Amino acid sequence: MTHTELIDRFGRRHDYLRISLTERCNLRCVYCMPAEGIMLRPREQFMRTDEVLAIARIFTDMGVKKIRLTGGEPLVRKDAAHIIRELGRLSVEMAITTNGVLVDEYIDVFEEAGLRSVNVSLDSLRPERMRAISRRDPFARTMANIRLLQDRGFHVKVNMVVMRGVNDDEVTDLMAWSRNEPVHVRFIEFMPFDGNRWDWSKGVSGEEILARATERFGATGYERLTDRPNDTARNYRLVDGQGTFAVISSVTNPFCDTCNRIRLTADGKLKNCLFGRHETDLLSALRSGADIKELIIGSVLNKKAVRNGMDSFEQLADPAQHGANRSMVAIGG
Ligand code: 5AD
Ligand code: SF4
Repeated sequence: MTHTELIDRFGRRHDYLRISLTERCNLRCVYCMPAEGIMLRPREQFMRTDEVLAIARIFTDMGVKKIRLTGGEPLVRKDAAHIIRELGRLSVEMAITTNGVLVDEYIDVFEEAGLRSVNVSLDSLRPERMRAISRRDPFARTMANIRLLQDRGFHVKVNMVVMRGVNDDEVTDLMAWSRNEPVHVRFIEFMPFDGNRWDWSKGVSGEEILARATERFGATGYERLTDRPNDTARNYRLVDGQGTFAVISSVTNPFCDTCNRIRLTADGKLKNCLFGRHETDLLSALRSGADIKELIIGSVLNKKAVRNGMDSFEQLADPAQHGANRSMVAIGG
């Protein structure tokens, strides 16, 4: 096959690869992991350092322009620094999604590798709430590391998964935070995955989040910004804000029509959709010496128009449909 651009049947060009470096995590967030944790599997089932790098290179040959490292928590992987440095030599934009706890140990490596954009998960501004949500105690370190990233000039986004009765009363406090600091807060609708006991009564829609902004800051107190192409977020700014806030409405208003993402799990499976259970085993193919480009192209051509075929809210809400998917910790955001 000669074409290497990853264009699917709907004309979407896939130039953004998210690589999960590990299924392990130093936290246990309720929306991400089942309470009992997930089963640890033998090392051989996961990509080795050289395999991560080999697959990443193949993707960049095929037109990938941006790589985001995810997990689990990508920074708990022992060779994370080496992988970040090596990926920094490819001509791709690099980004990472982390819970922030270990960022101070890696910030020099980020700088060296040219990784300038860091998404930090922070679901509350209250330490005791962060303890309840993450079943660990990350608040002090995560907050200190957000400050450190800001001081060193990184682009810092803060991701909050909004859950009714858990942290939804803090939504406008996080908006207010973006007034005084150059922080980009993103409110994410709670999504269903295997084991997170999802039902939409726990979710808060992007629309409701904006209604709360209006209630606190007034309809003229914040303004809509122009989104970048392929942005999954709708972006806003408080009129006098140094930072911004955004809503990511994966549940109520999917952004599939401009999707440019493809995901590689830590065990080397390609997922063409966050919501899809279908996976393409690149790692086994690579180990057997096969040409994985064909498999990658096939996976992209199999991608459905909307949320792996779950076009309607009812389909998404049906455990028979979303329940066979992996837990988020094993997909990688
Ligand atoms: N719903 C929405 N976002 C989720 N994340 C993990 N699980 C969920 C879920 N159930 C996202 C969060 C977190 C990142 C690691 O993955 O944004 O910050
Ligand atoms: Fe870990 Fe992130 Fe999942 Fe929380 S959301 S358990 S920090 S991978």
